[in-house]
Amino acid sequence: MKIFRSSAEMTAWSNQQAPTHSIGLVPTMGSLHQGHLSLIRMAKAKADRVVTSIFVNPLQFGPNEDFDRYPRIFEQDAAKAQEEGVDAIFAPTVEDLYPEGFQTAVIVRNLPKVLCGKARPGHFNGVTTVVAKLFHIVKANLAVFGAKDFQQLAVIRRMVVDLSMDITILSHPIVREADGLAMSSRNIFLSKTERQSALRLNQVLGLCRSWVAEGTISCAELLAKTKEYLIEDKSIKMDYIEIINQLTLQPQEEADSTSVLAMAVKIGKTRLIDNGYLFDGEHE
Ligand code: PAJ
Repeated sequence: MKIFRSSAEMTAWSNQQAPTHSIGLVPTMGSLHQGHLSLIRMAKAKADRVVTSIFVNPLQFGPNEDFDRYPRIFEQDAAKAQEEGVDAIFAPTVEDLYPEGFQTAVIVRNLPKVLCGKARPGHFNGVTTVVAKLFHIVKANLAVFGAKDFQQLAVIRRMVVDLSMDITILSHPIVREADGLAMSSRNIFLSKTERQSALRLNQVLGLCRSWVAEGTISCAELLAKTKEYLIEDKSIKMDYIEIINQLTLQPQEEADSTSVLAMAVKIGKTRLIDNGYLFDGEHE
């Protein structure tokens, strides 16, 4: 497995592969867990060569967010990536991706304004800017993203269409712990009791699906019941809960086959997100 620290080295390697091999990219910020590894397996099944990027991107963290304490465990990550058969890790320095004088951004106008974007202004501009750079540097033919970051996926799909990027975007369903908690690099920050509270996110997703199956489709009603269940636990502080269309991310009045329940909460100091479709069946 190759490890590249600079964009120039990464692109040189990709140029060698390109004539005969397709390249799949899995962008991450490291601290790899089974969620990330599932994305890597999907990329391996779809592309001849797989590159995983590991870069804690300063551009997508707000001034009071957890950039400094975000876990960085490169050696362990590299071992896991190697075990999965990753061909190359791209782990650039901040100076390499954002050299002095850097002043360009990729901005999707509207999708970032809702949901997580409201509480994290500028976050998605940081994501689209770094992801666009990664696509170019790695010369990827396809890239895999997790449905856990649902809004991120929608924003990236929009960017790819709007900027005519020649890359296929694949999404992987949310990977969960045995008890239902969506895997996240931030779960290590949860105390034992906080982790117990965090289970409510997946639980309420199941409840909401059962309310829909029983015939409740009014989103106001569903959201009221969802909120009631979440805040019953005093340690859960709501950021948002919304029922939205999977592509436009716009709130809905009545749930239908495109509906996604999306939520973000704070438990202690840790911000957690979760989401899921409200109806079974085929989805994007
Ligand atoms: P990060 O949070 O490290 O996530 C990397 C990828 O793993 C994302 O596509 C995310 O949706 C996916 N992922 C995380 N937890 C998952 C889970 N439990 N199930 C399925 N997929 C999961 O998202 C980012 O990094 C960054 O914003 C990035 C795209 C790398 C740009 O900096």
